[in-house]
Amino acid sequence: MNPADLIDLDRYPITDDVSADGQAFRMHSRLKFQHTGLLALNGFLHEAAIAELAAEARALEHHAHFVESTHNVYLATQLEDFAGEGPAAKGEHTFVGSVAYDRLPHGSRLRRLYQWDPLIAFIQSVLGTAELHRFADPLGACSINVYRDGGRHGWHFDESELSVTLMLQAPESGGDFEYVAGIRHRHDEEAVLTRVLDGDCRETQHLPFTEGTLLIFNGQQTLHRVTRVAGPRARLVPVLCFSERPDMFNSDEVRRYFWGRAG
Ligand SMILES: [Fe+2]
Repeated sequence: MNPADLIDLDRYPITDDVSADGQAFRMHSRLKFQHTGLLALNGFLHEAAIAELAAEARALEHHAHFVESTHNVYLATQLEDFAGEGPAAKGEHTFVGSVAYDRLPHGSRLRRLYQWDPLIAFIQSVLGTAELHRFADPLGACSINVYRDGGRHGWHFDESELSVTLMLQAPESGGDFEYVAGIRHRHDEEAVLTRVLDGDCRETQHLPFTEGTLLIFNGQQTLHRVTRVAGPRARLVPVLCFSERPDMFNSDEVRRYFWGRAG
């Protein structure tokens, strides 16, 4: 299996940084990400690849470790520390599972796609950074998020600047990705948060869950959530981690939290 065969390279020529078309695609992708903090490539995976990758992920689903928590938009869980601070005091509910990277068999398509150099080279060109590295974390480098019936991720900003995900398997219903772009540290951040957390959805944008989409996203600046999933089929989303710094590991605390073990 060559990872190139998984991707619709006619539509998204990520391996081509030479031809005029390839360079125009890279430039367009970079500008889109710079201006909106979000690049969604619908139909990135071929239909057959979606089926194969989803089947692999379903076979690993039983390894998922589930966490349930209440946090604020900044992912703090000691909400009493924020009493009287408006939207920062509001609790959001999250229930999500994750399959650790070390559960992925060595020949698995997802592992090979994550390790494939042209993919990281393309993402680096989108970010415009001098360097980009895969995580060295044996659990968190490329994990699979599992949202079962009742699963959701409340409104939050990510700790990491970059998030790369694959929309692999849609649930029966719910599991929508909603966001308010670029509001972190904006002068009206608190006012927007107050409105959104009160259920006012006029500023909220909605990204449909389309199986086969590659999403490159700056979750530090953009408020986002995953709405409640319902039905027997899990929402499956591989999370591919990269960093400008080499040899990145999650802390033991983060690993115990997400995967129930430190190593
Ligand atoms: Fe997030």
